[in-house]
Amino acid sequence: MTKILIDCDPGHDDAVAILYAARHLDLVGISTVYGNQSVEKTTRNALSLVTLLGLDTPVARGCEAPLTRVLAHGGDLHGKTGMDGAEMPAPRQDIVDAHAVDFIIEMASRNRGELVLCPVGPMTNVALALKKEPRLAGWLRAISLMGGATQIGNTTPVAEFNIWCDPEAADIVFRAGVPMWMVGLNVTRQVGVTDADIDRLMAAGPVARAFGGLFNFFISRLREVHNLNSASLHDPCALVPFIVPELIGYEECPVEIALDSGLTRGMTVCDFRRLTSKSLQNIRAKAPANCHVATSVEGRKLVEHILNAIVSWEDGSMPSTTV
Ligand code: BDR
Ligand code: CA
Repeated sequence: MTKILIDCDPGHDDAVAILYAARHLDLVGISTVYGNQSVEKTTRNALSLVTLLGLDTPVARGCEAPLTRVLAHGGDLHGKTGMDGAEMPAPRQDIVDAHAVDFIIEMASRNRGELVLCPVGPMTNVALALKKEPRLAGWLRAISLMGGATQIGNTTPVAEFNIWCDPEAADIVFRAGVPMWMVGLNVTRQVGVTDADIDRLMAAGPVARAFGGLFNFFISRLREVHNLNSASLHDPCALVPFIVPELIGYEECPVEIALDSGLTRGMTVCDFRRLTSKSLQNIRAKAPANCHVATSVEGRKLVEHILNAIVSWEDGSMPSTTV
């Protein structure tokens, strides 16, 4: 079974990623980062979630700010707590006695060649870990992240939130030479929970009802802010290559992060050109591919697969990994 470590900022859809990974994969750890809320709140949310799900997955607290600037946490989409909409239990376990950066290094060292690192928040912890331990890139089986977009952004016209929070960190991650999988908004916005799905969750057990409450809040914010009619399950999409790979199509290409301070800061520039020559004067040569970029998805099938994992959580029945 694939070993996975989720680096996250829970966060409504981060919570779904944790449940989905715990259901189908060997979730060896959770590390937290600022993002959807302050790191104090995202860490508490991760601990509450582990308690709600009855897991004993270790949780390590990470960075509270990006590499190069200070960031205000507005809780724009995820509310004051970072996971508004559900009564979450008080955490039963404490954080581990290591910073997320060291925890990531330690878990990768213990599981050399096996661990998939799954960043679904700003990439500050991951970048610092790659810098601190140069062997880390070689120890990881893959990095599979939620972030970026091939078309429009959500935080600026072209930048997606996780990358926009810390473009310098994302740049370090994309240059690290680890086999990379990126799922961005172009795909994750097609994986949306509807009002009818929420009704289904509300009619099921306590865990499903908690997720129904979370989605209710999230869908109302996405309606108000982004004029969307479903709650996007961004973060669990990053796990799909290791659970139901047939549901998301990827294309390998070069990806670079725009680091300028202007309009395109935080953009994931994906080079999908079909160039045949490198030697033309006025055409920028194509860099070597460094990432598999998600370009297509069977959105409804994936939503159903994720909902089944939530609804069946209580009775412990294992939903199929095939669809
Ligand atoms: C990403 O930003 C956060 O709001 C979500 O949790 C997701 O990781 C989507 O842009
Ligand atoms: Ca997230």
